[in-house]
Amino acid sequence: MVKPAGKQSCGRLVFFSFLALLAVGLVADFLWASSHRFSSSMISLPSSVTTVVGKLPPSSNEKDTKKKKNDNARERKLSATFQDLPAPQLHWEKMSPSPVPRLDGAAIQIRNFLYVFAGYGNINLVHSHVDVYNFLDNTWGGRFDMPKEMAHSHLGMVTDGRYIYIVTGQYGPQCRGPTAKTFVLDTDTNTWRDFVPLPVPRYAPATQLWRGRLHVMGGSKENRHTPGLEHWSIAVKDGKALEKEWRSEIPIPRGGPHRACVVVDDKLFVLGGQEGDFMAKPGSPIFKCSRRLEVVFSDVYMLDEEMKWKVMPPMPKPDSHIEFAWKVVNNSIVIVGGTTEKHPETKKMVLVGEIFQFNLNTMKWYVIGKLPYRVKTTLVGYWNGNLYFTSGQRDKGPDDPAPRKVIAEMWRTKLILYP
Ligand SMILES: *[C@@H]1O[C@H](CO)[C@@H](O)[C@H](O)[C@H]1NC(C)=O
Repeated sequence: MVKPAGKQSCGRLVFFSFLALLAVGLVADFLWASSHRFSSSMISLPSSVTTVVGKLPPSSNEKDTKKKKNDNARERKLSATFQDLPAPQLHWEKMSPSPVPRLDGAAIQIRNFLYVFAGYGNINLVHSHVDVYNFLDNTWGGRFDMPKEMAHSHLGMVTDGRYIYIVTGQYGPQCRGPTAKTFVLDTDTNTWRDFVPLPVPRYAPATQLWRGRLHVMGGSKENRHTPGLEHWSIAVKDGKALEKEWRSEIPIPRGGPHRACVVVDDKLFVLGGQEGDFMAKPGSPIFKCSRRLEVVFSDVYMLDEEMKWKVMPPMPKPDSHIEFAWKVVNNSIVIVGGTTEKHPETKKMVLVGEIFQFNLNTMKWYVIGKLPYRVKTTLVGYWNGNLYFTSGQRDKGPDDPAPRKVIAEMWRTKLILYP
């Protein structure tokens, strides 16, 4: 049996962090009162105290009945519209769905092929194979297996056009530990090779090839929640490491998982992301996921030849779960869906239903269209003027932006950019 590296020590770390968190969590839960219980199926513990205490409901000196009425009215309004931005309606065409539904999968486009990797089918089931979509005839096919020891979600992934580098990630379903194991796929032969493991495992680190080096930064640490700031790189060529070890690079200004990492015109950008994530419930034999409140951000940073991070114009709203939800088209970064800041009252996760464009000619952001629904961890491709997305987890409906169904659907629309 394959065991993810560092699972033992990771388990202990998670356990002790949780004793502390649980203690404060219980106090917070008492203060919070039972009316604000979370209802999503993935949520089973009180949220972490730092976020919740800062946002306690108004104190009880208001009249109870009046307050309840106001709350209901406000809640209805908020849940319908919270953080949706005005955006043009687009014509969406439904294509053939992926062979399996996927959440937190990964995707790489090479020419007319979209390679779609791994992901959760549901919270208790993870995929260990690749499906391939062909934009030429709009069909799925060419399924092949991943190495048994490769992570199943929260992967870092990037391609040079032939070789795909697959770095670290979560091994197994629910909220299991990460592995540092790293692989290379040769897409000419569909063969896999081992690669130099990352110094320590990470969840969903920002990953890119830049100036002949594979760069990996940020992500969550071994407990799945604590943001990592570390940044490593290693020289690579044709799917092989040219060095024995990863080297430390300038840390990322803000850590955490689920951001887009893009190289355009010799500059490296990291966009959006979050600090914090679901964690394994202490003592749970299945590493059951429990909610920890995350902070989603709109920050955009850029690294150029000076090797200093520069702050770029922020995204139109905080956006996370977008690591494979982007394409570069005509010197613009296009980002599809994601998650934004949690609902201010229910604390539920809020999905994003817009497409964003960051025009690198003008350094301006635009909201360029509405998706068929709000959806996170989309896997995005671009072919012949059309923007495609597949997979992810969609909202409960137009009036409820909280996550519900894991999807296999594939959609496309004509991409219209601001010049
Ligand atoms: C990209 O630029 C080319 C050349 O100017 C243009 O023909 C094409 O329509 C542009 N694509 C998009 C999506 O705007």
